[in-house]
This record gives sequence, structure tokens and C-alpha cells, in this order.
Amino acid sequence: MKHSSGQEPRHIAIIMDGNGRWARRRGLPRIEGHRRGIEAARQVVRAAGDTELRYLTLFAFSVENWQRPRDEVNALMDLLHHFLREERRYLLENRIRLRCIGRIEDLPERVNTQIRDIIEETSTFEGRTLVIALNYGARTEVLDAVRSYCRAVTEGEEDLDQCGWEQFSRHLYTGADIPDPDLILRTSGESRLSNFLLLQSAYSEIYFSPVLWPDFNREEFMQAIQYYKQRERRFGKTGDQVCPAVPETAQSLT
Ligand code: IPE
Ligand code: IPE
Ligand code: MG
Repeated sequence: MKHSSGQEPRHIAIIMDGNGRWARRRGLPRIEGHRRGIEAARQVVRAAGDTELRYLTLFAFSVENWQRPRDEVNALMDLLHHFLREERRYLLENRIRLRCIGRIEDLPERVNTQIRDIIEETSTFEGRTLVIALNYGARTEVLDAVRSYCRAVTEGEEDLDQCGWEQFSRHLYTGADIPDPDLILRTSGESRLSNFLLLQSAYSEIYFSPVLWPDFNREEFMQAIQYYKQRERRFGKTGDQVCPAVPETAQSLT
């Protein structure tokens, strides 16, 4: 018999992929796909507010995405600026905290300033957190974490002999406060993680949707949550350990 936890996910992280193909199939420029992708992101942020989810992470721009044509990168930065301007009000009204993971200091100054301002304005909100992965790469994150950890050792804030995962992982961009994602969701039918949250996803469930991101919507998102609820997470243990079978005597009493 298959046991599923039936538990609601606390943190879903999404690789929003397929904007370019969505546009190409319609004979439109790639940027039009990104524009529609912003609408999908908005819809999913709202859908998440109707669930028990506490953390939603959206992968918006990778460290590798700088290699795209300059026009596309510039357009993505413009769209991001526009998205954040509109979302700011929503975050404030709904008391959602904004966090960013990635080297945001290397983004254009106006985007960097805007993000820092919203992070500051929403920093005291406790219920829900929207995390945007921007100029993010998992390998860059590990290198930054090693540097940060070593600096802390030099300054006497960390003790190398006491280094465990808890001590090291607080130097990752996700810090001590963002839990590992329960579910990683990638759209557009690609079955790869593309340098996204490689350490934090050690025990995440993974859901690949064939839908291109601009077509992704509330229903697709709820389907992914249903998929998650049917998984049995074992973390290295046996199925019986994580979900003990009901003893026969107990069964006959019910
Ligand atoms: C995802 O869509 C958006 C970003 C990576 C910024 P893509 O632009 O990667 O779309 P495809 O994969 O080319 O279809
Ligand atoms: C991953 O998508 C990055 C984001 C969704 C922001 P890519 O489209 O860049 O990934 P690859 O290149 O297909 O692996
Ligand atoms: Mg892609």
C-alpha cells in the first residue's frame, strides 16, 4: 500500500521556463513571451495566497542568462522593474515579505535600489514570503557561501571545528530563515534543474509540467500541489518508518 503524507507544502520553488518557445510558436518576438510570463507569475503569486504555502520562490533570471542577446537581457530587466513596481502594492496590502536570492548587487542600479527598498519595506511581515531568484546560480551561491563562512571564521563568528550543515547553510543566500523547498516545479517540459537551488533541493519533490510558462495558471499550480500531497517523503528511512502501517488490531477496532 502506498502511503502519502497528504501534507500541504510549505515552500514551492518554480523554474518559470518556456517564454521564448511560447512566443516563437505564435510568430512573436521572445520578449512578448516574457511579457506574458509576467502575467503568469502574477497569477501564481495570487494563487499561492489562497493556499497554506508560506514561501514561494520564483526563478526569474539566472547567472547564465546574461549570455543572452543584449536586447533580451535589457527587456527582461525592464519587465522585472515593471513587475516589482506593480507587485509592491500587492505585497504591502497583503503583508507579504519580499526576499531575493542571487547577486542582486550586479543588477542595473534602478532594479537593485527598487528591490532593496521593497525588501526593507516588507521586512517585518511574518506570514508569507515571496522569494525572487535574480542573477541566481547555485554554484555561485556555494562560492559566495564559502567566502562568507571563511570570513566569519576569521572574525571569530564561526568555529570551523563546529561546522555542520546548520552552521554552513546559514551562509547560503537562503540564510537561516528560508526553509528548503518541499517542491521544485519546472514548466515547459524540460527535466533539468539548470543550476537552481542545488543544495536546498536535496530532498525536494520535483514536478515537471509540460505547460509553457505563459500558459501556466492557478489550475496548473493547484495540480502541482495535489501531486506533492500524494508523495511519500522518506528522507532515507523506510516507508513504514515515516508512515507506520495501522496494526491489524487497531484496524478491527475502527
Ligand atoms: C524563461 O523562459 C525565462 C527566463 C529564463 C528569463 P525562456 O526565455 O528560457 O524560454 P525558452 O526556454 O527559450 O522557451
Ligand atoms: C532557467 O531557465 C532560468 C530561469 C527560468 C530564470 P533557462 O531557460 O535559462 O535554462 P536552460 O538554459 O534551458 O537550462
Ligand atoms: Mg528556457
